[in-house]
Amino acid sequence: MQKNKPDYYNDLDKVNQKIWEMLSSGLKNRDAPFHIPVFICGNKEKFDGRIVVLRGIDEKEKKLWFHSDIRSNKIKNLKINPEATLLFYDKNEKIQLRISGICKINYQNSFTETSWKKTAHMSRQCYLGDKAPGLDFPTPTSGLTQDVDDLKYSKEESEIGYKNFCVIETYIKSIEWLYLAAKGHRRAYFNLNKKQLEKKWLIP
Ligand SMILES: Cc1cc2nc3c(=O)[nH]c(=O)nc-3n(C[C@H](O)[C@H](O)[C@H](O)COP(=O)(O)O)c2cc1C
Repeated sequence: MQKNKPDYYNDLDKVNQKIWEMLSSGLKNRDAPFHIPVFICGNKEKFDGRIVVLRGIDEKEKKLWFHSDIRSNKIKNLKINPEATLLFYDKNEKIQLRISGICKINYQNSFTETSWKKTAHMSRQCYLGDKAPGLDFPTPTSGLTQDVDDLKYSKEESEIGYKNFCVIETYIKSIEWLYLAAKGHRRAYFNLNKKQLEKKWLIP
């Protein structure tokens, strides 16, 4: 627990600034807790969460994005219900964020082309299986060939993975912030769905 009150403790503008600073450091720093949020989505009946890697943020356009496999179950859900939440928690900062919005599935467009080009050799491995993630299989398996498991594939050979690659953008509608402090928690809500950012305090 932090001893001194941070400068954003009673200041909504500073909270907003802190949110984007933390997202930015989560994007750049693999060890930052904000690097791997939980992405929660569902069809009409069942919701589920899974860890993803934060791959991009755009404060001006009010969106975040991550990479995924177009064959995965979350894509099927997003096609039925594009609403989703990204859940972040930083234990040292004692800050939780719930970022909610509407998702866009980018597939074989200029966005995915640019992202795929930047996807490192090792990260392309996830897209090189010929079976969809989540399928039943009779034996333990990575779903990849031994060569792919051993990273024995060339850049050219990895290009085949592009057909499985997609980028999920979340267009942010709201951000809910929770800061835990021994001498009084703080909770705030930002509505990004209006022309002007709306911000207010909530009871924690
Ligand atoms: C540390 C970590 C990072 C992950 N990053 C991603 C990611 O960026 N994108 C993704 O689709 N799945 C990622 N996964 C796998 C997902 O958590 C999940 O198992 C997978 O996407 C299948 O989910 P689904 O069946 O709900 O679609 C990651 C898992 C872990 C543990």
